[in-house]
Amino acid sequence: MRPAIALALLMVFIVSFCSAQNATELKEQLAMEGIMALFQDDAEYTAASQPYNLRYIVEPLAIAYPTTAEQISSVVVAGVIQKLHVVARSGGHSYIANGLGGTNGSLVVDLSQMKNITVDAVTGNAIIGPGNRLGDVALTLNNAGRGLPHGRCTYVGIGGHSGFGGWGFASRMWGMTLDNVLSATVVLANGSIVTASEHSNEALYWAIRGSSASFGIVASIEFRTHAVPPTATAFEFTWQMDAPTASAAFIEFQSWALSGDIPPEFGGEIGFLKGQAYGQVEFAFLGNYFGPADSFNSTITPFFSKLPAPVTANVTQGTWIEALTAIAAGNMNTTTQPDSNDTFYAKSLMAPQAVPLTNASMTALVTYLAEVGFNSSDFWHVEVELYGGNQSAINQVKFNDTAFAHRDTLFTFQPYASSPNLLPPYPDSGFGFVDGMISTLTLNMPSDWEWGAYPNYIDDRLQDWQRRYYGSHYDRLRVLKSSVDPLDTFHFPTSIEK
Ligand SMILES: Cc1cc2nc3c(=O)[nH]c(=O)nc-3n(C[C@H](O)[C@H](O)[C@H](O)COP(=O)(O)OP(=O)(O)OC[C@H]3O[C@@H](n4cnc5c(N)ncnc54)[C@H](O)[C@@H]3O)c2cc1C
Ligand SMILES: *[C@@H]1O[C@H](CO)[C@@H](O)[C@H](O)[C@H]1NC(C)=O
Ligand SMILES: *[C@@H]1O[C@H](CO)[C@@H](O)[C@H](O)[C@H]1NC(C)=O
Ligand SMILES: *[C@@H]1O[C@H](CO)[C@@H](O)[C@H](O)[C@H]1NC(C)=O
Ligand SMILES: *[C@@H]1O[C@H](CO)[C@@H](O)[C@H](O)[C@H]1NC(C)=O
Ligand SMILES: *[C@@H]1O[C@H](CO)[C@@H](O)[C@H](O)[C@H]1NC(C)=O
Ligand SMILES: *[C@@H]1O[C@H](CO)[C@@H](O)[C@H](O)[C@H]1NC(C)=O
Ligand SMILES: *[C@@H]1O[C@H](CO)[C@@H](O)[C@H](O)[C@H]1NC(C)=O
Ligand SMILES: *[C@@H]1O[C@H](CO)[C@@H](O)[C@H](O)[C@H]1NC(C)=O
Ligand SMILES: *[C@@H]1O[C@H](CO)[C@@H](O)[C@H](O)[C@H]1NC(C)=O
Ligand SMILES: *[C@@H]1O[C@H](CO)[C@@H](O)[C@H](O)[C@H]1NC(C)=O
Ligand SMILES: *[C@@H]1O[C@H](CO)[C@@H](O)[C@H](O)[C@H]1NC(C)=O
Ligand SMILES: *[C@@H]1O[C@H](CO)[C@@H](O)[C@H](O)[C@H]1NC(C)=O
Repeated sequence: MRPAIALALLMVFIVSFCSAQNATELKEQLAMEGIMALFQDDAEYTAASQPYNLRYIVEPLAIAYPTTAEQISSVVVAGVIQKLHVVARSGGHSYIANGLGGTNGSLVVDLSQMKNITVDAVTGNAIIGPGNRLGDVALTLNNAGRGLPHGRCTYVGIGGHSGFGGWGFASRMWGMTLDNVLSATVVLANGSIVTASEHSNEALYWAIRGSSASFGIVASIEFRTHAVPPTATAFEFTWQMDAPTASAAFIEFQSWALSGDIPPEFGGEIGFLKGQAYGQVEFAFLGNYFGPADSFNSTITPFFSKLPAPVTANVTQGTWIEALTAIAAGNMNTTTQPDSNDTFYAKSLMAPQAVPLTNASMTALVTYLAEVGFNSSDFWHVEVELYGGNQSAINQVKFNDTAFAHRDTLFTFQPYASSPNLLPPYPDSGFGFVDGMISTLTLNMPSDWEWGAYPNYIDDRLQDWQRRYYGSHYDRLRVLKSSVDPLDTFHFPTSIEK
């Protein structure tokens, strides 16, 4: 009898403990503090909880819209009282809807009301609100003659981008976006608002540059910016190639990358898309060059001269912002057009510069794309982004300086396949198809090849994600997680474990 009663009491305790999530109390608490929030019974809730990747359906308990760090703190505290998982959303472009919590029932801290940008006229340092999108950041900084390295997809948010990496065509010159973070205001799980910098909360400063979302909500970021170069080039060339020609082009691209000939002002990638016939691929070469306009040709010649004549050639020369605009995906000013969406699966492979790809691995990937890829009705592409070459700023940062764990990368691969009409449902075959884009490489490399993965191309199907994303930094991240977020408030499917 008595053990049974004890058990029943324990059950009641556990149930009440676990069901302490009370939306009514949360709503009252946020309303009392004057913080706008949407709950599941609000008309705007459905639109506000749409992910970028429509493969996910995620229903947060609530979405709050704070306007200051103090309000973020109030939201976090209210979430902790209700024992909720709390996550930040900046641009909402997480591949696996982590900005909505990744699973149902989280409290989302939407940062879209925090879009201020100020540029210090003397130092050029910029304080950027975490609700900004990359296109608007580029336009606003450019008005002050300044720039940052970041991706070309203008609707991506600065919050996620700078928290996990931030690669763009200026990265070989100026590093990843996160390499330019000088300090940040961060709201911790206990609601305290702290500064993270080289001089203050150094461990947190380390962690928010590579794995921010597990440790706090970044309420404002101070960046080192750079004087924009006087001239810049945007380029995009495409070819139809049979598999042997495309394999040879890929091999040449790696030789060029390893040659030491590519100046840091050059940023680019090659890409593979579906070809016009079985056994073919479309091959693309695109990027920006930030050196003098008349040296663009000689810069790319060592690689370009090895290729057949392109089918399309598109070169735009002008100012920094003109070159960024020419190669941008999406409107630079993101307030004048709504965001888009997609239904897709993507993953990544970061290939170390120390162990270059074998000819067999490059040929196997291209052959797979020209054959299996041609047969697929998915809308797919594979990007091979140039991170390395011995003059790249990305690889000059010391491994231990930031939580970003990839300072010897030659290429980052991004294999990506959308459903045929970009809408749900996502075909089951898409997963194996994309997995094959990685395994054709790895199966043709030594079995102890230490490849990594890029946490901004986040993949919840990656088995050993801790090691691939964070390498030997993972243990240090866990120690910090246990100390600053002991209740695992900032939890999502790929958050750092305690
Ligand atoms: C179309 C497209 C193109 C892309 N191109 C590139 C590219 O060229 N280069 C590149 O490097 N990446 C690129 N990415 C990947 C992109 O960098 C990541 O998806 C990025 O994490 C998105 O950031 P977000 O703020 O828009 O997303 P969100 O979904 O809002 O956030 C992503 C993650 O960061 C967390 N987070 C957001 N804001 C904060 C904050 N203030 N404090 C703490 N945690 C926060 C979220 O909780 C979530 O875990 C691209 C993505 C897409 C969809
Ligand atoms: C939520 O809290 C309110 C106010 O404290 C209370 O009236 C209500 O019963 C609670 N609901 C649940 C499901 O616990
Ligand atoms: C969230 O709940 C909805 C139904 O209410 C369900 O369709 C969806 O799969 C759930 N999402 C996750 C990530 O579990
Ligand atoms: C927003 O930025 C403008 C200038 O860009 C500045 O004058 C203003 O003080 C800023 N506001 C806040 C709340 O930081
Ligand atoms: C975007 O366009 C709007 C409307 O024209 C304008 O008010 C805003 O300043 C622009 N934003 C940027 C970053 O240039
Ligand atoms: C890069 O490699 C090239 C060729 O090996 C060499 O000439 C050059 O000095 C190297 N540059 C740097 C910065 O290491
Ligand atoms: C570079 O210049 C050479 C000689 O004028 C020309 O043949 C070649 O097409 C140019 N390459 C590009 C990419 O413009
Ligand atoms: C290619 O040309 C089109 C049309 O002129 C232009 O809009 C686009 O920005 C160009 N792209 C590049 C990379 O120069
Ligand atoms: C996806 O984006 C398109 C516009 O590109 C829009 O019409 C549609 O409503 C969006 N879908 C969702 C579910 O947000
Ligand atoms: C790889 O292919 C290139 C180009 O065909 C060739 O020059 C090189 O010798 C090959 N490397 C090996 C190790 O076979
Ligand atoms: C592609 O489809 C064709 C026609 O159905 C078939 O003969 C061929 O074997 C397929 N190729 C692959 C790699 O599946
Ligand atoms: C990074 O720090 C760890 C732990 O302090 C140390 O063991 C390791 O040697 C360092 N790595 C480098 C490349 O400095
Ligand atoms: C909040 O957490 C931080 C990090 O663990 C700690 O340093 C600080 O003392 C805590 N503040 C309060 C008020 O408990």
